[in-house]
Amino acid sequence: MIQRPVFFANWKMNHGPTEARAYMAAFLRIFSPHEDRTVAMFPPALSLATVRDARAGRTDIQLGIQNIYSRDRGAFTGENSAPMARDAGAELVLVGHSERRHVFDETNLEVAQKVAIAPQFGLTPVLCVGETLQEREMDAAEHIVMEQLEIGISALRKETIPQIVVAYEPVWAIGTGRSATPEDASSMHRVIREKLRALAPGSDGVPILYGGSVSTKNAKSLLEADGVDGVLVGSACLDPEGWAEICRT
Ligand code: 13P
Repeated sequence: MIQRPVFFANWKMNHGPTEARAYMAAFLRIFSPHEDRTVAMFPPALSLATVRDARAGRTDIQLGIQNIYSRDRGAFTGENSAPMARDAGAELVLVGHSERRHVFDETNLEVAQKVAIAPQFGLTPVLCVGETLQEREMDAAEHIVMEQLEIGISALRKETIPQIVVAYEPVWAIGTGRSATPEDASSMHRVIREKLRALAPGSDGVPILYGGSVSTKNAKSLLEADGVDGVLVGSACLDPEGWAEICRT
């Protein structure tokens, strides 16, 4: 169950097993269990088992993988499948993160296949959507985000849609120190919520997270923004003290 507010830490390609062990020891020491929110860590796949073992007994902390392949097994060198991620302890999976789309050229159709396979193996997909700066300046932000959302969930069975999580991460805000304003976030979250309602009545429980330069300084105002159910954090989650502070917001 995902209880709002939601705090997701995307470590990206940081913290291998040795660093992950030290990070988790420090984080668990300073962050006491909070039953009124959901906290999850998304370490690199090679550190999943380390984080899983480190948080043993801390059922308040969930675990996710940053990416999966769209097939469940086979000759796909270098890829990780949904059942393998589940077996390694993941409960959640990021799908369609902006870096997957823009560095690794993932298309909306590939994203849709990954979103669809995740729940078949017990993983909750976190569908990431967001426009580039150029798309925003061309006034195409809503159109792009709606397309990513609509195609992203198109291969899911309708009754499964209420079980996903959506993260709005404008590309221009990721890793730039320039977060969206709470008003901008609210306005896109409203459009996403309306679209989800239209596509899948009964999906009001789907948390919609904001991501992009969330920090200890702006987390509170972003979390207070209308329609923002949680945050997906990159740089500011890389040190355990900063991350614990954000998770206490
Ligand atoms: P930053 O918090 O570093 O901007 O990254 C956001 C992000 O991509 C989380 O998935």
